[in-house]
Amino acid sequence: MTATRTAWQITRYGGPDRLKPVKLPVPEPGQNEILIRIHASAVTRADGMMRAGKPLWARPFLGLRRPRAGLSGTGFSGTILALGPGASRFRVGDEVFGEAGMTFGANASHIALDESGTIMPKPKTLSHEEAATMTDGPLTSLNFLENLAELRAGEKVLILAGSGSLGSAAIQIASAMGADVTATTSPRNAGLVASLGATRIIDYTSEDFTKTPDRWDVIFDTIGTSSYGQAARALTRTGRYVNPVLTLGLLTAMARTSLFGSRKARFSATGLLKPDTLRSMLDHLLDLHAGDNLTPVMDRTYGLNDLPEAHRYVETGRKRGNVVVTG
Ligand SMILES: NC(=O)c1ccc[n+]([C@@H]2O[C@H](COP(=O)([O-])OP(=O)(O)OC[C@H]3O[C@@H](n4cnc5c(N)ncnc54)[C@H](OP(=O)(O)O)[C@@H]3O)[C@@H](O)[C@H]2O)c1
Repeated sequence: MTATRTAWQITRYGGPDRLKPVKLPVPEPGQNEILIRIHASAVTRADGMMRAGKPLWARPFLGLRRPRAGLSGTGFSGTILALGPGASRFRVGDEVFGEAGMTFGANASHIALDESGTIMPKPKTLSHEEAATMTDGPLTSLNFLENLAELRAGEKVLILAGSGSLGSAAIQIASAMGADVTATTSPRNAGLVASLGATRIIDYTSEDFTKTPDRWDVIFDTIGTSSYGQAARALTRTGRYVNPVLTLGLLTAMARTSLFGSRKARFSATGLLKPDTLRSMLDHLLDLHAGDNLTPVMDRTYGLNDLPEAHRYVETGRKRGNVVVTG
């Protein structure tokens, strides 16, 4: 009898109800592939946007009329069950975590992936739940703070939305880089944000950061609530504004600031960077974790069978840190 795996299919763009559970054969690992038994996989804002086919400009990458990959999930953590004939990076039984990227299909019990992808050995000090989230908030925040914002020790950084997946990782990473960290948050998450390393907190429900006398060298708007035009008022003369949510306004600001002025606006699609670049950034994150400077903040864990429920929770916009499914 053929062994089967559980996965979640998306055949049409739309809400969480579009996610349909399917039983598929457990794949045989191809030449350079590894077969992984997934223990935990992430449920992220980006996963929800890909499920919904939004923003529309992303559809040439995702599939014009329907999701090209047809399966849900990107970040995962698990154990290697089998190796393809040419695979040599890992051994059967190794615990690994990473990112399925444009292959998708990580919200599943098993996945076969090329070993040269964004896959890393999982340290024992990270649980599978924590490891599954490393390629979302931590990896994106490192890319934005280090590569895009070029944050340096001693600089002042403002993290907008310090309690989300990106924000909670960004505070820890920026603190470890030696920056002076301010973060915006609501009163219910102020304690969490302070415990992660923010030395100043702005309650976004009662105070507008653009109206304070402070100036920051870097503003990282982790959830895309601001515009460059507003934020530029709170930047130093050579300040950098980075935002992971691409809009026409941000594109225009990037084009304009690349030509004129000393303040800059920048964006990057982290998941589209080359796997070897992402692996070396993950190495850096593992060093931060080993030095006790980075631990993913975990919110809810759902069963793999409850993936639509997990998507609904993530879409409330109220999660604190990360959400995963296990099983
Ligand atoms: N470009 C890239 O490479 C890339 C990669 C990954 C993700 N992304 C994008 O990054 C974005 C952020 O994702 P995320 O998972 O970090 O978000 P998230 O975890 O869903 O953010 C939720 C948190 O934001 C807080 N929040 C909501 N409104 C706020 C406001 N106006 N000011 C301050 N805090 C506020 C909420 O706290 P309260 O409940 O206390 O308000 C909540 O804790 C998504 O749009 C995702 O698609 C981009």
